[in-house]
Amino acid sequence: MKDLFGQALLDYQNGNYTEDIITSTNISDDDVLPIPYLFRGFSEMPKLEQKALKLAKGAILDVGCGSGSHSLYLQENNKTVKAIDISKGAIEVATRRGVLHAETKAILDETDTFDTVLILMNGTGIFQELSQVSKHLTHLKRLLNAGGQILIDSSDIKYMYEDEDGGYWMDTNANYHGELDYFLTYKGEEETAMKWLYLDFETLNLACETVGLNCELVLEGEHFDYLARLTAI
Ligand SMILES: C[S@@+](CC[C@H](N)C(=O)[O-])C[C@H]1O[C@@H](n2cnc3c(N)ncnc32)[C@H](O)[C@@H]1O
Repeated sequence: MKDLFGQALLDYQNGNYTEDIITSTNISDDDVLPIPYLFRGFSEMPKLEQKALKLAKGAILDVGCGSGSHSLYLQENNKTVKAIDISKGAIEVATRRGVLHAETKAILDETDTFDTVLILMNGTGIFQELSQVSKHLTHLKRLLNAGGQILIDSSDIKYMYEDEDGGYWMDTNANYHGELDYFLTYKGEEETAMKWLYLDFETLNLACETVGLNCELVLEGEHFDYLARLTAI
């Protein structure tokens, strides 16, 4: 990984913001990811994220913290937060913005336990593919203190396969429709291709059942997105 995402965050933090990140997937064309959005304050966050932050309690783990926007809000509200991300650049930015406990770490390497595990901005993305969901959920469950919760958002991207006549062009023999190859370009450089998973609520719910997690639909967004709360059964 070249960490172009981290580089973009660092550029913005250092006052060198000249262009945005360009993303695309195997089923969609170029899209702009505005870097200022990755530095959003509470009032600019989607309702699902605001709800998750309001529900977060106790010792909190912010997984894939990016520039640390969620962690900063929680800290400002006197919460105890640990923020982790695989991007070195992201962790450097989060630390410089004031996140007190930020570490470069992948979720599967985390071993502390928490009352709330927060995974936001299509949190299921870090599972990468359907076959890895159980492994990640089992690990996340182990990170929970008694009475703990995982707050995670995602969306059903079936709409991305809809054609102009309202039909779907999904290949039913292909992989699960939320499994995407994700490409990122920044300042003309291409990041190594990544896998990124969108999970519809029912599929997440079924996966939770198999690992002994209860899955509750907390809130639905405006565009097939939702926030779920997972707790140990
Ligand atoms: C879509 S960004 C969201 C960033 C931030 N949560 C936000 O809402 O602005 C996903 C983040 O997850 C991080 N990430 C991806 N896989 C990860 C993993 N296995 N463990 C920890 N962080 C991961 C990426 O580096 C990236 O910063």
